[in-house]
Amino acid sequence: EKGGYEHFMIKEIMEQPEAIRKTISPRIRNGEVVLDDLKLSARDLEEMDRLYIIACGSSYHVGMAAKYVMEKLLRKPVEVTLASEFRYCEPIVTPNTLALVISQSGETIDTLAAMREARRLGARVISIVNVVGSTIARESDGVLYTWAGPEIAVATTKAYSTQLAVVYLIALYAARLLGTITAQEYDAILAELQRVPDKLEQILNHKEDIQYFATLYFNRHSMFFIGRNLDYAVGLEGSLKLKEISYIHSEAYAAGELKHGTISLIEPGTLVVALAGYTPLFEKTVSNAVEVKSRGADVLGLTTQAMATALKGTADHVIAIPETHPILLPSLEVVPMQLFAYYTALQRGCDIDKPRNLAKSVTVE
Ligand code: F6R
Repeated sequence: EKGGYEHFMIKEIMEQPEAIRKTISPRIRNGEVVLDDLKLSARDLEEMDRLYIIACGSSYHVGMAAKYVMEKLLRKPVEVTLASEFRYCEPIVTPNTLALVISQSGETIDTLAAMREARRLGARVISIVNVVGSTIARESDGVLYTWAGPEIAVATTKAYSTQLAVVYLIALYAARLLGTITAQEYDAILAELQRVPDKLEQILNHKEDIQYFATLYFNRHSMFFIGRNLDYAVGLEGSLKLKEISYIHSEAYAAGELKHGTISLIEPGTLVVALAGYTPLFEKTVSNAVEVKSRGADVLGLTTQAMATALKGTADHVIAIPETHPILLPSLEVVPMQLFAYYTALQRGCDIDKPRNLAKSVTVE
């Protein structure tokens, strides 16, 4: 059942290239994204006053990446809210508000309740769901399934990756309808999206490199994940993965925010994972890595192959990922973060597939 792997989590990590292929290929025809299930017209999108993205946990982190992607490509305000907060915050919803709900299980009670609230207030609701026929899928106006197959490990991996792939499809589709993207940019992103599975295979073929870094750092008390923009969104997920399965305290911070308080927690022995794949802000993140390094932290850097040498000037070690369109970086960056969490937990002898206090599907408030 684990296909020769020691845990479901690593099996599911390894399944990601195929899961993404299955999720995107039926929705790309003749170089165009086709999302008939969405039933969104150009007019619906033009009139849209706001997009709310509603989710919990890792699905919320996909939403964080989606906010950067959608605002960049659609030039429309996007608000990402935790489902448990959305319910009770008197959200500003009009008939022109669109809600995008993201859930692997399709049964998370907070997400379901928030979705019902959005609907009650008049929003149109579309969802990205993995479990076919689940409650959230059934109650949505339009659902886009992630074809990741059953996810058994409590810590999500392939659901996250396929949710993100669907986000890119929606963003491209909507940007084309709205006319906010050039044909050249559209083609470039779509072509690169289709190359993501192969690039993930390259990363997964070298998973022992990440395992090596885990053996260096698995006994640290505290870890920080820093990055800006899309790198920050991935840092949130890297930090959650690590803490949920390895029980190491960790936090993700927008790199520029550290100096407003959190940097006081950096001391010799703290590991800082510096995500610096997003080229436009590379220098900014590097300067934040220098700040933590000078306070005694060890720095594990993550960037693209082209920037690896530059990052080595600051970081103790660097994880280099293949080049891609900058907007697609989260799809590649998240996998080394999953592997790092997995191998760290493995090194610590944790119950990886069933971490303490956690359930796969959270059906209580
Ligand atoms: C973390 C994890 C959780 C879920 C969250 C939402 O690895 O799996 O944070 O992402 O409980 O679950 P779904 O997506 O099923 O609504």
